[in-house]
Amino acid sequence: MIRKIIKIDIVPFEKKYFSQLVDFVKPMWSFSTWEDSFRKIYTELILQNSFFENNLTFQIALPKDKLCSAMFFQNKSDKNNIYKWIDENTKNLSKEKKQSINLCAEYLSYMDSKVHSLMNDDDIKLSLFVSCQKGYGSLIFKELINRLKNQNYKNVYLWTDCECNWQWYIKNNFTLIEEAIYPKFNDENKLFKTYIFKKQIV
Ligand SMILES: CC(C)(COP(=O)(O)OP(=O)(O)OC[C@H]1O[C@@H](n2cnc3c(N)ncnc32)[C@H](O)[C@@H]1OP(=O)(O)O)[C@@H](O)C(=O)NCCC(=O)NCCS
Repeated sequence: MIRKIIKIDIVPFEKKYFSQLVDFVKPMWSFSTWEDSFRKIYTELILQNSFFENNLTFQIALPKDKLCSAMFFQNKSDKNNIYKWIDENTKNLSKEKKQSINLCAEYLSYMDSKVHSLMNDDDIKLSLFVSCQKGYGSLIFKELINRLKNQNYKNVYLWTDCECNWQWYIKNNFTLIEEAIYPKFNDENKLFKTYIFKKQIV
């Protein structure tokens, strides 16, 4: 039997993969009743909010441009201009859609600032973690934790919510720092839960 050996490289994130990320997370992070074009903008907002020009964004991709997983990090002091992105990308939206975008941006900024308030300068925030193929999540995480350790980071912090695979962090021995409810996103059937996790980098 001839076995094809594929070399797995963790490399800086290439922006050409943004559209694959959007397609992957769109079903989880936007409503199926919305127009597809709006779902894309809404999902991209969440992704853009987690992206920083800081050399701390990584990917695993296979030949033929197939994205397997991506991990973005943020130093406490890193800034991105998300409100500029919103201005540029939501000009033609209806008032109602703009309102949804603003509600989402308000939520992201509220959760981000909660996590920042817990961090010291030598801690790092995991701002995006996505794996489009089972197994590639642990693979990228284990390698990047080693790299962060070598860069003398002490703890990784992150926030997530009930629309994500937050259980992954429990399984992977992160400490749950806070479980809360974000009332503006509750609906009649379900409370919208948020989670803050921490892991010591050892
Ligand atoms: C969270 C997330 C990144 C985890 O990535 P992942 O690749 O699924 O994680 P793992 O590498 O740990 O693999 C998950 C499971 O698949 C199993 N697995 C690994 N390779 C496999 C394969 N080839 N076939 C089938 N199962 C496999 C692993 O053993 C593991 O099983 P376990 O849960 O029983 O331990 C992923 O679920 C995801 O992208 N979710 C959507 C976005 C999200 O919620 N992000 C995190 C919160 S913001």
